[in-house]
Parts: sequence; C-alpha cells; structure tokens
Amino acid sequence: MRVLLIGNGGREHALGWKLAQSPRVGELISLPGNPGLADLGPTVEGIDVSDAGAISAMSRIQDVDLVVVGPEAPLAAGVVDAVSALGIPVFGPTRAAARLESSKTFAKEVMRKAGVPTGESWAFTDPGPAKKQLEGIDGPFVVKADGLAAGKGVLVTDDRNEAVAWVDHCFDGQFGEAGSVVLIEEFLDGPELSVFAVCTDDGAVALEPARDYKRLLDDDQGPNTGGMGSYSPVELPEGLVDDVLSDVVNPTLSQMAADGSPFSGFLYVGLVLAADGPKVLEFNVRLGDPETQAVLPRLESDLVDVLEGATPAWSKTATVNVVLAAEGYPESPEKGAVIQGLKNVPEDVLVFHAGTAVDGNKVAVNGGRVLSLVGTGPNLDVARDRAYDAVDTLAWKGAQFRTDIAGRL
Ligand code: GLY
Repeated sequence: MRVLLIGNGGREHALGWKLAQSPRVGELISLPGNPGLADLGPTVEGIDVSDAGAISAMSRIQDVDLVVVGPEAPLAAGVVDAVSALGIPVFGPTRAAARLESSKTFAKEVMRKAGVPTGESWAFTDPGPAKKQLEGIDGPFVVKADGLAAGKGVLVTDDRNEAVAWVDHCFDGQFGEAGSVVLIEEFLDGPELSVFAVCTDDGAVALEPARDYKRLLDDDQGPNTGGMGSYSPVELPEGLVDDVLSDVVNPTLSQMAADGSPFSGFLYVGLVLAADGPKVLEFNVRLGDPETQAVLPRLESDLVDVLEGATPAWSKTATVNVVLAAEGYPESPEKGAVIQGLKNVPEDVLVFHAGTAVDGNKVAVNGGRVLSLVGTGPNLDVARDRAYDAVDTLAWKGAQFRTDIAGRL
C-alpha cells in the first residue's frame, strides 16, 4: 500500500521508520517530511500540512491507500474529514473529535460528563472574573489559553502577580484566537506520565508508556520545551495502564460517541500520579514527541496492523531518547550550524531527524529540536549509555541536551 504521512518532526520520523518496516507498505510518502524521512521515500513540498483540501486532493491523485497524520494542527484543521470524505482510509480524529486537544474547555467538559478523574477548572471569556478567581485560590497557579498555542499557552507559577499578568497576556491576543478563552486549573502535584491509546472502531489498545522530560535543563530546571528526552519502559504500579484504559480512555470514547463526535486515532493521556490516584492533566489527539521515538522501537508488531486495531506485541528492549536541540532553543533557535559526526553514530543507536536540513552534502540545524538519539539495550542503563556515547560523537555550535535522561547524573 501507499502510505502518506503528514508532519516533519522526530515523532513523524519514528512513525515513518516503523511504517516503512511493514511488509504491507510499498511506498511511504511524507508531507513535508524531513531529511530522515527522505531516506525512506518521496517527500512532498509546497503543501501546507493544514491545507485539508490540497492534502485530500493529493491523496487521491497519488492513489494513496492510507493517510497517517502526526501533529495536532492538521487534525484541528480537518485533514481527516477531508481525506475520509473521498473514501480514503485515514488514521486520526476528525476536526470535531480533535477538540479534545484543540479546546481545553471542551476536554474538561467531556471529562466531567464522562466521570474521568481530573483537576478542577474554571473557564473565562473576560480577564476580570479570571483575575478574581486567582485572588480566591492558593498557588501554585495554573493558567492556560484554551486553544492550540504550540505548547506556549500554559503558565504554572507560585507567583499570583505573574498568573494575573498571564491572564492579560492570553486575552491580549498573544496566542490569537487560542487565547480568547482562558482556563484556570487546580494544580496537580505528582510525577507525570504519558499513556497512549490507539483508538479504532474496535475499541482502544494501549501502547507502552514513556516518560518525557519537558524542562530544558538537568534536574528539571530552565524553561519548558516540547520535550528534551524520553525513555521506555517506565516502572509503574501494577495495573495502572489497564486502569487508565478503563477509567479514562473508554469513558471518554463512550462520551464522545454519545455526543456525536466519535473519536479514533491516537489518544495521548497526560496524567499526574497524584496522592489520591491518577488524574488527567490533558488530552492530546496524537502521539507525544519525544515519547514516540522511545516507544515505537520497542513495538514488535506491524504498525499498520496496530493502527487497524491489532493488539501490539512489545520487545523487552529498553530505549532512551536524548534530544539534541539548537542553540537558543526554546526562545529563538539558531539555524544553520553544520552537524558534524552524523556518520559516526553507532549502529545500535537510532537517529530520528526533526529540525534538520540538507545543505549540499552536509546536514545542518534547521529548527529547535534537531535530532533524537535513541539508545536501545537489554535494560535502561545500557540503553542510556549507548545514547550518551552517540551524543559524544556529534557536535555543532551551541548544541543543547540534558545529561540526566533516564536517571543519568
Ligand atoms: N512530549 C509532549 C508532547 O508531545 O506534547
């Protein structure tokens, strides 16, 4: 079959790498792809990933048999609706179902109706009442723009004044339409965990969980990022993933169906393991990045079968993903530096591209998160050492990475 993969990050390179291993996939086309995906099949330039009409037309012209959408923006823009309207199979939620990520107030409302455990929240369309709410609660304060803001619309702070200023920041149009509704949420305390479910007409199956590191610097210091590393497997209380399926995923799917917006695709459940039990921090309607790069190398099953609802089988291998980011990331990544040493990365380490570009016969930095180096091994210690040994083989001016992924100090 011909598969069209939408997106250009490390997550999409890992998805494409796994899809290309399927005996069912004859050709993998990536839109727009990246230099890593370009090694796996043709890439398409000149079409915006959120241009639903152009993507559906291209899928028909290129006789695509399956479309897989990686990031949230094309899902929120209705790419799945447009492609499936042409009768072409597509993996991902419709625009209406993607509101689980594209509107935090919508997600909270679904959780409330479905009885899914989550923190309290209050939604506002004007700054005055939102600020009044902040006066009436204790910190830490959690203030979020309702819509998609590329991970930048959330503030968690102990400082009430900063929280009040963030309310204005959202309503002032910093995040466009995404900030026209502001959510204040109860702070949930505890370790975070990402659980991913593959949701099809046959129900939901869980993928192996991964742990993500969101802060830029070691010891969870510095600014929030898209994610600086991940590892899998994660040691968890017995039965936790099954509990998340029965207490979170299945009730959410039932509620979405009952409300007339049935959900299919990847459902990413961001959880806090609070003292009184797991609570949902957020839903995303896609896989996590950089978690995907740690999870998919452990998948033994054919990914196309899994997207069709097959129960996945997992290897006992451990994976550790160290993200290398550009100088200046996350505020203002510097592009252009030439990446030295890519050919020296050992074969037991997977390299997933994200913010890279080919410049003649060189590969250069072209975005914030540049590469994922995924060490694999019989346990996390070995996987971590392999990943960091590979990091030592690479260099460019100002490259940033954490040294404590999966416990390394
Ligand atoms: N790793 C966090 C995210 O993908 O949203």
